[in-house]
This record gives sequence, C-alpha cells and structure tokens, in this order.
Amino acid sequence: MSDDRPILMFDSGVGGLSVLAPTRALLPQASYVYVADNGGFPYGIRSEAEIAARVPALLGRLVERYRPRLVVIACNTASTIALAAVRAALDLPIVGTVPAIKPAAERSGSRAIGVLGTDATVRQPYVDDLSARFASDCLVLRHGSARLVELAEAKLRGEAADPADYRAVLDGLLGQPGGDRIDTVVLACTHFPLVEAELSAAAPRPLGFVDGGPGIARRVAHLTDGQDWPAVPTGEAVFTAPLEIGNALRAGLAARGLDRISVL
Ligand code: DGL
Repeated sequence: MSDDRPILMFDSGVGGLSVLAPTRALLPQASYVYVADNGGFPYGIRSEAEIAARVPALLGRLVERYRPRLVVIACNTASTIALAAVRAALDLPIVGTVPAIKPAAERSGSRAIGVLGTDATVRQPYVDDLSARFASDCLVLRHGSARLVELAEAKLRGEAADPADYRAVLDGLLGQPGGDRIDTVVLACTHFPLVEAELSAAAPRPLGFVDGGPGIARRVAHLTDGQDWPAVPTGEAVFTAPLEIGNALRAGLAARGLDRISVL
C-alpha cells in the first residue's frame, strides 16, 4: 500500500534546505513539500508577537492544503518562539529546530561555545534554558546576525560574496570578552549551514561548527518508522509570495529534489 502524504518543511526562506538535505538522505522514499515564507522573510528581525501570530496561522493553512504526515519547522527563530503554539494548534507530529547547544557542549574541548543565530533567536529564554541544561560548565556567547541570513540567501541565488562579510560576522562573536576561547560554534539558524564553508574559510583559527540538521533527520526517520511511502516520491518548493526565481535558485532547489515550484 502506498501513502502519498508528504513531509512538510517550513522556513522563512531557503535556510530549511540545510535540514531537508540530511532528511532526504535518510528518507529518499518520502515526498517533500518545502515551504519558504518569503512573504514574511526575514523572521530574525521581527518581534516575538509577529512570529507568534504568523507562524501557527500559516502552518494551519499549509497543513489543510498539503495534508502532510509530519511537519518540520526548519527554522530556529520560528521554533524557539512558536513551537508550543503550533503543537497545541495542530493534530500531527511537529518537529522543531532548536539551537544545537547540547552536541556543541559535548564536543567543546575549551568549554567555550558560540551561538550564532538571528537576533530574535539569540535573545530567547529557550536559549538560556538549553545553555543551563546542557552547557552549564561552558562559557556560552551569542551573536545575532541578519547579514549572514542575507548572505546565505544570496549564495543560493548564485551571487558572489566578499569574504570580509563573513569575517565581520565572526568578529561579532569571537570579538566578545572570552570569545578567543571559543572552539565550537552552534549554527543556530538554518540558513547558516548553507554558508559553513565560507565561515570556515573566514575563521581566524579552526572552529568546529554544529547544527541541528542531522539530529532532526534522525528524529523524522524515527517518527515515520514503519509507515508506507508514495509509489513515486515528489518534491515541491512553495513560496508564500510571488518572486523572481532565477536559474541558480531553480537549480539549487532541483539539486535538493524540489523540481516543482509554486506560489501559495
Ligand atoms: N532560517 C531561520 C532560522 O533558522 C531564520 C532566518 C530569518 O528569516 O531571519 O532562524
């Protein structure tokens, strides 16, 4: 028996592709609907109230329309603010993306870790909780960067960037008191793993980068274990507002299995 229900992944933009890739590698038999809320982008500079109002309502619409078997909120900003509200409103499994502070603390030799996210994410009490629970013996420094989100979006559009831009972002983290001790950086925004190579090249010393993608992929595989799958898996990218889709973005989406593109 086949089951056509897709896995729905949601982000403000292309960031969630860093979660889609490891999930698709584990579950190539699944159909995926990848939703980029470009109509609400960027989330990281919005208020908690705006995100809390927008995300549950939009996901409600999306679930009605696409009838997924499971939803992944592939966005740290939306998850750290609205995960509980989305779970309360929707009657299906919701997997969130929260800063990978636990694996970073397990890995750090210097006991100093950096959390690079959006401005909205790094100020969330959720990050205080994760730090207290999993990294209480570590110095945890945070830095919010809207610029790095733009750089990741630009990269997927095929635009070249100046390495100095990446250095400036890292300076905001490593230049804080104690920042010279950081050996591990949490990429706490799903856009950031898309530019990990650029960050690594711009870093003044070798840093370990950690993100939640592989853990989320394992969680999705676990939650869907034993289910039936579509006879022919499909992949569709959905944008919430009209946009011009250039060749580079189209190719980037197709390379990730999203060969259909539509606007909500
Ligand atoms: N990709 C999102 C995150 O993980 C947010 C990017 C943005 O819209 O600011 O936080």
